[in-house]
This record gives sequence, structure tokens and C-alpha cells, in this order.
Amino acid sequence: MSAVFERRSVRDFLPKPVEPDKIERILKAGFEAPSAHNRRPWEFMVITAPDDLRAIADMSPYAKMAVKAAAALAPCVNINRGNAAAPEDTWWCQDLAAATENMLLQITEEGLGGVWLGWYPDKTRVTAFSQRFGLPPHIIPFSVIALGYPAGPVQKADRFDPAKVHYGVYGKHSRLNG
Ligand SMILES: Cc1cc2nc3c(=O)[nH]c(=O)nc-3n(C[C@H](O)[C@H](O)[C@H](O)COP(=O)(O)O)c2cc1C
Repeated sequence: MSAVFERRSVRDFLPKPVEPDKIERILKAGFEAPSAHNRRPWEFMVITAPDDLRAIADMSPYAKMAVKAAAALAPCVNINRGNAAAPEDTWWCQDLAAATENMLLQITEEGLGGVWLGWYPDKTRVTAFSQRFGLPPHIIPFSVIALGYPAGPVQKADRFDPAKVHYGVYGKHSRLNG
């Protein structure tokens, strides 16, 4: 099985906790992500209390499934490990996106399901999360991953589109000569 091709967003979960060793492996997958200059500017929030999951669901119109999730993991940037000297330097967004995707793939490997919830740069969501969970100003929540045991089968999809692949020159869709 390749998790890349099995992963799909899962938004409905069984009322069943996720084992701590699975959570730990998912976190470890986040730490393995590539990062610009190898800065590894991430820190991770682990949220499992039902009240807190309900609060997350209320912070975004697109996070309602968090109520049923067993846990929420939030990759955050430590801006002091990003490039604090240049706040406009947002390479860290790519670092944190790589960490988020690594975690989603490990969630799939663990037989779990999860969904990436967009957080940064939505100021309302960032502020609500930071206030609720006591984040200091240099820690910014980048994404929230709601996860748990899927309530139903996960549908696969083949999305490969050769029309969007260009060999050597834009518009050449075949790797054969001519
Ligand atoms: C940056 C980003 C933000 C997203 N935000 C949300 C969100 O707030 N709520 C949600 O249900 N899904 C969210 N998603 C998941 C997408 O809707 C999902 O990845 C897309 O529909 C493709 O489906 P798949 O993940 O099953 O391949 C987000 C995905 C990304 C990459």
C-alpha cells in the first residue's frame, strides 16, 4: 500500500480514541518533513479533550467534524526559528505544509483518517486558537488536523491528468519524441 494513493480527507469518525503510540508516530512523521535551510521551525499541539475539540469546531465554519474527532493535531510555526529577521519571509509556510502532509500520510498508514483544516493566514482562526490554548506570540498555528477512526470506507480517486504534464516544453504531453 502507498499512503499517497490511499489518503483521502476523512470527516466522519467513530467514537473511539486513538492509541497514544499512533499519535506519537504521526507526530514523528511531522518532524521528518523537509524544511528550508533545515530550520525545522515547527512545534505541534495535541488536543484530545472533548471540550477543546468542540471549541476548535466553533473556530472555523469548515471545522465542524472536529466535534467527532478523537484528536486534533496542530502544526504551529515557531517564528523565531522561521526567519524572525524578515517577517515577510514565508518559506516556513512550505515547511509547515510539508509537515502537515507527512502527518496525513502517516495517519493513513495507521489505518486512521484525517482532514487538513486551513488555519493560517485566517486571523480569526489563528487568534481564537492561540487564545484558547495559550500560545505565546511567536507560536502561530498553521493548520489543524482532525483525526480518528473513519466511520465509513474511504473512497480512492485516480486524479492523474496527462494534459497537465509538460515534457521539456510547455504543451508537450508525451515523453516520446515528436
Ligand atoms: C490548505 C488546505 C486547507 C483545507 N481546509 C479545509 C477545511 O477547512 N475544512 C475541510 O473540511 N477540508 C479542508 N481541506 C481539505 C480539502 O478540502 C481536501 O484536501 C480536498 O477537497 C481534496 O480532497 P482529498 O483530501 O480527499 O484528496 C483543506 C486542504 C488544504 C490543502
